[in-house]
Amino acid sequence: DAEAAALHIGHQTAWFALHRRAALRPGETLLVHAAAGGVGSAAVQLGRAAGARVIAVVGGPAKAAVAKELGADLVVDRSAGDFVAAVKEATGGRGADVVFDPVGGAAFTGSTKCVAFEGRIVVVGFASGGIPAPPLNHALVKNYSLLGLHWGLYGTHDPQAVRAAHEQLTELAAAGVVRPLVTARLPLTGAADAVQQVADGLTTGRVVVLGS
Ligand SMILES: NC(=O)c1ccc[n+]([C@@H]2O[C@H](COP(=O)([O-])OP(=O)(O)OC[C@H]3O[C@@H](n4cnc5c(N)ncnc54)[C@H](OP(=O)(O)O)[C@@H]3O)[C@@H](O)[C@H]2O)c1
Repeated sequence: DAEAAALHIGHQTAWFALHRRAALRPGETLLVHAAAGGVGSAAVQLGRAAGARVIAVVGGPAKAAVAKELGADLVVDRSAGDFVAAVKEATGGRGADVVFDPVGGAAFTGSTKCVAFEGRIVVVGFASGGIPAPPLNHALVKNYSLLGLHWGLYGTHDPQAVRAAHEQLTELAAAGVVRPLVTARLPLTGAADAVQQVADGLTTGRVVVLGS
């Protein structure tokens, strides 16, 4: 049940970001920020499942190990190195075709520096607290796209697409291709601490609060 709960919003968000918004193609390079986090870990799994080469950015060695375990092809620890340089080096200077960004702030700004020609940056969230206000001439000059994603709106705008994604996701889960990362199961009394740990950026995958 905990994994099923974790599958829903995290993987739906990653699915709509990568497939519906960014139209990720096999062989493309996908850059995932906060790759050991809730939606980030789903994006790594779904990027791999889509045949993309996945570059994961994480904060710290423990999260780097998690991202590697999830199947990322290259992991960059943002606390130890410059992800912009790493993406450029890994792509021969071309940059990432698709960027999955739930962090904003410096993650977004850096992404605009290493996004490929005709690349797509999907704005998923602002976990860093910084909401970027990018100069739009940069998107024109470098020929990339900025795509917003608000997954919750699909429930009213296109519920059939949510159901179709759910079918695909449950098939991938049944086949073992994706597996929601649940790193803590806590009783209801631990809910406030759990939320604080997420806010502090200390968790990996999903923290599941059990009702009983
Ligand atoms: N657009 C949508 O439809 C949609 C749907 C679901 C979630 N979201 C959003 O996506 C974001 C991530 O959600 P999540 O559930 O994946 O959360 P999460 O697991 O807590 O991931 C957030 C990660 O952001 C990274 N981070 C970078 N700078 C940070 C900072 N200054 N403070 C805290 N964390 C920082 C941390 O990972 P590292 O240390 O590894 O960098 C942290 O673990 C949230 O803003 C959420 O609201 C959006």
